[in-house]
Amino acid sequence: MGDLIGGRRKQLILVVDDKRMNTELLKELLGSRGYRTVAAQNAAAAEAEIRREAPDLILLDVVMPGKSGYDLCRELKEDSETRLIPIVMITGLTDREDRLKGIEAGADDFLTKPISSEELFARVSSLLKLKEFTDELETVDSVLCTLGLSVEARDPYTEGHCERLAQNAGDLGRYLGVEGECVVALQRGGYLHDLGKIAVPDEILKKGSDLTPAEWAIMKQHPVTGETICRPLKSLRLVLPIIRHHHEHSDGSGYPDGLRADEIPLLPRILQVVDIYDALRTARPYKPALSHEQAAVTMLAEARSGLWDEELVSEFFGMLDKRRQVA
Ligand SMILES: [Fe+2]
Repeated sequence: MGDLIGGRRKQLILVVDDKRMNTELLKELLGSRGYRTVAAQNAAAAEAEIRREAPDLILLDVVMPGKSGYDLCRELKEDSETRLIPIVMITGLTDREDRLKGIEAGADDFLTKPISSEELFARVSSLLKLKEFTDELETVDSVLCTLGLSVEARDPYTEGHCERLAQNAGDLGRYLGVEGECVVALQRGGYLHDLGKIAVPDEILKKGSDLTPAEWAIMKQHPVTGETICRPLKSLRLVLPIIRHHHEHSDGSGYPDGLRADEIPLLPRILQVVDIYDALRTARPYKPALSHEQAAVTMLAEARSGLWDEELVSEFFGMLDKRRQVA
């Protein structure tokens, strides 16, 4: 309970330095301002502490026996689990080169020895505020993904669809060589593409087929509704086109904008291919599940008739074939 302030968790600072005297001094200074602290004398001990409880800020000495501060910093910034933890590197006063190396390793800020307590408190306080803000954004993001899953849960026949889509869309993106942030957008798109179905009544959603024109009109609003829900979040900027355009067709017969071929952005085209495959492979009350081979034949025929991007369909099956060979 002592770690909670007004119901919130008190933020934790990890101090990494091979000299125990330095870590003790920093812990004492930070403790005097009410911060929770933990210390590690080398990179391996720091990694163990991070696994035990992810800190909100790391103060990291550059010179340590074994793995250096730069290497530890680089590794933490490359790991999706830890990349958002701010890292302040502690360098010597005149070590300009140290700073350059630190910037290359992804450090967020620097403190020079001897450390002035005013400077320490100023850095720590501003970076912890930033971390709090990032945590809130992450929370909003994950709330939306959970909402996406709750939409899926309303339809018992689509169980696991979002997870499979997130996995396969991300894999296809990587296979095609798209940028890392686009791969992340594809994974999020797997969870969020049908979020707008939250506004579609159960009786329409569960009917699945044979919708009346009026019901169909409501169903067709879900990409725009989903985009509207997610638009305020800057972190979902690359996911918005996926949500809006995942029902467009290459021949212009899709919705909501009737885009054609290359007018449809690449990311929604990628998600669409994966989405169609998953739908074909899943049994519904009104249709049986197709085998992998049947799904391939169907999708290639539909692509040739003008529904999907033929090249992407071929690439997708190329990727699945490779995956099957490895398995
Ligand atoms: Fe949809």
